[in-house]
Amino acid sequence: MGGILDKLIGYAETISDESIRKVTLEILTQPTLSFTDAKPIVGFLDSPAAPRKHHSFTGGLLLHTLGVVEASVRIREYIEMVYGLKADRDLVVAAALLHDLFKFYQYRPDEIEGGYKPREDWYLSHDYSIIGELARRGAPEKLIRVVAEVHGLQPFTTIEGLIVHLADSLDARLGDILQQMLQGKLRALDKEGCNPYKVMSEKARSDGPEKVFERAFSPVDVVVSEFKKYCGG
Ligand SMILES: [Fe+2]
Ligand SMILES: [Fe+2]
Repeated sequence: MGGILDKLIGYAETISDESIRKVTLEILTQPTLSFTDAKPIVGFLDSPAAPRKHHSFTGGLLLHTLGVVEASVRIREYIEMVYGLKADRDLVVAAALLHDLFKFYQYRPDEIEGGYKPREDWYLSHDYSIIGELARRGAPEKLIRVVAEVHGLQPFTTIEGLIVHLADSLDARLGDILQQMLQGKLRALDKEGCNPYKVMSEKARSDGPEKVFERAFSPVDVVVSEFKKYCGG
């Protein structure tokens, strides 16, 4: 999982604006909410991006974050190329890196169904958490503004917020489709008492989250034999 985190940190280091780079790197390397005594149950590196819908396995949050960064920088380029709209690369990269970061506070392992589930004792959604933490750590308001727009809950006022929003929707949808394909093929294992959420997380732990979807388009027997080795874990 360290490989993906290193890539995210590498992206943060390419931010040229010092105040944006500094706060982004600080939050990525010390991801704690400083305004609460509540402690996460699942770590940042282990967290899924969602408990069931997309990237719901161990390390899924890191993988989705990398997906959103990679998609964001490319969407920024195409929008400028086709529509002549210029967007600040620093804000795009920082907002993509940070948009879901505190999701890991929201989850706990699901011992019964496998994978993860929302915890009942935490109240703050990640889209609020990141805004609170950015403000507390003295982030520039232009960054807070873009991050606040990423989830699309209010009208867009920045091109950067719109770009990361589109990249987020794209990567979540991609993860959702790939995961559904994979889970459909893992049904045979489920019948043998081997939970698909559990084996996806076991594979992510053993080979890295970036390997989970590798066989999504392979025939069922190939997928089953690949994942079967993680049933015991
Ligand atoms: Fe989100
Ligand atoms: Fe996201």
